[in-house]
Amino acid sequence: MSVRAGREFLAIPGPTTVPDEVLRAMHRPAVDIYAGPLLALTDSLLRDVARIFNTRGRSYIYISNGHGAWEAALTNVLSKGDRILVLESGRFAIGWGDAARRMGVEVEVLKGDMRRAVRPAEVEARLKADRKADGGGTFKAILVTQIDTASGVVNDIAAIGQAIRAAGHDALLMVDAVASLGCMPFDMDEWGVDVAMSGSQKGLMTPPGLAFVAASDRAREVHRKAGLRTPYWDWTEREGDLHYQKYAGTPPEHLLFGLRQALDLLLTEGLENVFRRHYLLAEAVRRAVGAWAEGQAIGFNIIEPSERCNTVTAVLLNGHDPEALRAYCDQKCGVILGHGIGELSGKAFRVAHMGHVNAPMIMGTLSVIEIALGALGVPHGKGGAQAAIDWLSAEVKA
Ligand SMILES: Cc1ncc(COP(=O)(O)O)c(C=O)c1O
Repeated sequence: MSVRAGREFLAIPGPTTVPDEVLRAMHRPAVDIYAGPLLALTDSLLRDVARIFNTRGRSYIYISNGHGAWEAALTNVLSKGDRILVLESGRFAIGWGDAARRMGVEVEVLKGDMRRAVRPAEVEARLKADRKADGGGTFKAILVTQIDTASGVVNDIAAIGQAIRAAGHDALLMVDAVASLGCMPFDMDEWGVDVAMSGSQKGLMTPPGLAFVAASDRAREVHRKAGLRTPYWDWTEREGDLHYQKYAGTPPEHLLFGLRQALDLLLTEGLENVFRRHYLLAEAVRRAVGAWAEGQAIGFNIIEPSERCNTVTAVLLNGHDPEALRAYCDQKCGVILGHGIGELSGKAFRVAHMGHVNAPMIMGTLSVIEIALGALGVPHGKGGAQAAIDWLSAEVKA
């Protein structure tokens, strides 16, 4: 017997739920790619993507996923043999660094781990040691994720930017905002970020297939001499006047229609409100996990509360099978949770709270997890969903 009939809740950290308005916006005939409204659409999207990154720099839209945007970011500013520093705080900066290594870039990892954020003081110390007498250093770039979807950590990009400046280092700061853009502030120019990248399928509520890169003036200057440039990813090509050049070929029309609608939804709600909604719902999840943790079998992956991010929560299940819990939630109740990845594989499940999410979706998800904990006999503190309810009742005023 199951109680899963009806709408399924997708609570994995991307792709996320696509709003009906976005789906409807894509349901239309193809249009001319050489003239007419599509050209204005591209202009508006490039402008608004830069706006979401909070930069006066240039933005680029690729037909790609996040891995492609990683490659776009790297190839446009680096050359074979360059050295870069990767700041570890989970899986994804490491993955980005691995891509660089395969392109002939020398990669050093500033060791971190799955359970904590990057420490800006450690970044500053490593960069000071790297600095040469002329003020430069051997590292050409520093790679970091704002939110690591595997660990559920949020890194303080402003503080990392500050650490780089305090060390007097001139490496480019390159940030993966795949799991954070559109869900929390990203102040590219203010934080001193040179290259930022993201994808369409998480906070931006659009199907997978579009990726975004934003570049500061300094990054575009470095780009001129980058040796890894290739025709498809190349910024200079994409800055050409012809509409065709902006996508290095046929534009992904329907994804662009969807993205326009998704950005309109975000901008109409107001980015500050969107960020606040993410915080409130994330905290509701944390309140529930905190209550369940009293049973000793459940815990937060990220140890320090202030380092837990507002888009996904990785939950450790000590001595119990997270896959059994996920299977119950899916097969019996129609809620699909994320599985643990990397070092957390087989040890954790992840609850996504990013993108097109609201209180009923989060409360439904939390209640189903609590039902599963009871049905599977996983020891847990009672009242997790109630703790989330109490939090939202107090914070979301009448
Ligand atoms: C933080 C982060 N960076 C990069 C990626 C890779 O993106 P994609 O799967 O779209 O290639 C992901 C995917 O989950 C991610 O969470």
